[in-house]
Amino acid sequence: MIPLTRPLVDFADVVEDFRRIVESGTLTSGAYVAGFEADLADYVGVAHAIATTSATTALHLVLAAAGIGPGDEVLVSDFTFPASGNVIAQCGARPVLVDCAPGGFLLDLEDAAARITPRTRALMAIDPFGQPCDLAGAATLARDHGLLLVEDAACALGAHVDGRRCGAWPGAAAFSFHPRKIITTGEGGMVTTDDDDLAARLRLLRNHGGMRGDVGMRFDEHGFNYRMSELQAAMGRAQMRRLDEMLAGRRTAAAAYDRALAAADGVTVPAAGSAGATFQSYVLLLADGIDRDAVSLAMRAAGIETTIGTYAMHAQPAFAAYGHRPGDLPHSHRAQEGSLTLPLWPGMGAAVVEEVVAALSSAVEEQW
Ligand SMILES: Cc1ncc(COP(=O)(O)O)c(C=O)c1O
Repeated sequence: MIPLTRPLVDFADVVEDFRRIVESGTLTSGAYVAGFEADLADYVGVAHAIATTSATTALHLVLAAAGIGPGDEVLVSDFTFPASGNVIAQCGARPVLVDCAPGGFLLDLEDAAARITPRTRALMAIDPFGQPCDLAGAATLARDHGLLLVEDAACALGAHVDGRRCGAWPGAAAFSFHPRKIITTGEGGMVTTDDDDLAARLRLLRNHGGMRGDVGMRFDEHGFNYRMSELQAAMGRAQMRRLDEMLAGRRTAAAAYDRALAAADGVTVPAAGSAGATFQSYVLLLADGIDRDAVSLAMRAAGIETTIGTYAMHAQPAFAAYGHRPGDLPHSHRAQEGSLTLPLWPGMGAAVVEEVVAALSSAVEEQW
């Protein structure tokens, strides 16, 4: 079976650090977490990086630190992994779902602007599959309406747009280190921001809302335990050392797919040729009338694992409470129904690309 992905983690990259950590007895956040935060802040080009247990908790922490709660509305791209919307609801705020621009996966900023109300506090902009959205446009919209820009850059470590890395735009951003992401720590996440006050609140709330005194702590507000462990951070530091290699490997594989699919009938690749994208996933959109699930099952029968792109949150039962029906956000719904993720990992060879594209073409032809 050709798998969807293969995380590139070598035990040799971490074994010495793991031994040192276990022998030191400092297992929760310590010097490795601080080092990983510094590595990532330096790479992205921001003043602060705050490690967490996942991108979900990173996003939740940002909203909580910004004081977003009941009565507030947060604009969020509808086409995303539902963690993006769940954390808004977890804060007691209302996720206001925004459609994609037609024919692709990126946030439609005109639709976002049309949904702003006096209750809107923040704009959560997703970089789907590591393809940067229009972050300059999102930053302008946020500034003009006094909103916090929260970039969900879960898949976008190493992506850049307009000469600036994802994670380095105004407001705050969240990265994921789940094994299907660009680098992995098993589970893990990171917030990046240039805002000193926000960073201080993020650090406070990450650690129970407790201020350390000479002896013990003082708790001024209700926080969380979203701390990363030293073992995870050691893996994160080792992965950062290989980040350029991993990004280059992903982009090479994506370019091979772009070439092989350039003349294919019935498929478009919204991110084809996107220079600044990470290609966390290589996702294509099947033409109207092609049954995506049938294509995926035919490819499985040919020994190739695929999956959907991601979800139109408005069509998920958890979001029905906000009054949406499947199809209300038509472009996002179309992306949910017609998207297909092909296998991709750093260093995937040309022969695998050929095999996947051959199986895809025959599965599509059967229905075309
Ligand atoms: C866009 C997006 N946001 C958030 C998440 C959640 O990331 P994590 O698993 O690190 O919580 C994901 C995971 O797939 C994602 O794709």
